[in-house]
Amino acid sequence: MTWTHKNLLGLEGLSREEITFILDTAERFHEVLDRPIPLVPALRGKTILNMFYEPSTRTATSFAMAAKRLSADVVGFSKASSSVKKGETLLDTVRTIESMRVDGVVIRHSCPGAARFIAQRIDAFVINAGDGAHEHPTQGLLDLSAARKRLESFEGRHLVVVGDITHSRVARSAIYGFSTMGAEITVCGPATLIPPHFKKAFPNVGIETDFDRLLADADMIMMLRLQLERQGKGLFPSIREYRKLYCLTAERIKKAKPDVVVMHPGPMNRGIEIEPAVADGPNSVVLAQVRAGVAVRMAVLYILAGGELEH
Ligand code: CP
Repeated sequence: MTWTHKNLLGLEGLSREEITFILDTAERFHEVLDRPIPLVPALRGKTILNMFYEPSTRTATSFAMAAKRLSADVVGFSKASSSVKKGETLLDTVRTIESMRVDGVVIRHSCPGAARFIAQRIDAFVINAGDGAHEHPTQGLLDLSAARKRLESFEGRHLVVVGDITHSRVARSAIYGFSTMGAEITVCGPATLIPPHFKKAFPNVGIETDFDRLLADADMIMMLRLQLERQGKGLFPSIREYRKLYCLTAERIKKAKPDVVVMHPGPMNRGIEIEPAVADGPNSVVLAQVRAGVAVRMAVLYILAGGELEH
């Protein structure tokens, strides 16, 4: 297929064909990553700027690794060590760095829409690495990539997303991505962590507050990180209560299908939203998700940069 988008700002609006194209391209890079020397010259001469205005372990590392595996030059940038501290605006910062001839910008920012704002103002392609509670598209793609290895097709499969739906960009990208690929989706969590406008925004997504009622019918369960920084803001009574109602425990997983796929974007609060026995158990694809992250990000960089793949 012919790719027509300059940027990857979200999974909203991408077609099934486009998502499949990225996932299939990522499969080719999985093969590259399995080689003794996991390196291809596809983006030689290109420069990728990684701008992380929020903390990140997985996304920042895997974007840097993906660009290096494609032979691109990678420039890292963090808020703490930049002139942002001196009051420089986001746009001035990006324009300053772009004038040094950057081909692509990967940006994580706390403001929803930050990646779009930049993309509309610079020539380099932009990849959204998480913008506030809006979207985290490469996370959605790596979730699909890891789950696809277990399920093959998403048509008619049931994805249950559990946790803080209101504040989760991971949940939003999962909803767009998995529903486009044919899955049915139910979100689950305390009513205070599901936005009041959710049903209007996502009329085809189910809402449930009782996790136990969903277990038997789920093909995939995505546990979200409980954002502990929100504790004390009245959104859930206590961690003990949350754990009792929403933790994916060894007891709960016994009530699910034997081959249910368990996902978590990380970082995990072990023992709060997921028990270690489940996180490290046979249903879990948590580490496969991290591994898929490198291949998926290689695919996205490669597609947006218009790279040449040699074998
Ligand atoms: N899943 C995810 O985005 O993790 P990081 O915040 O570590 O990048």
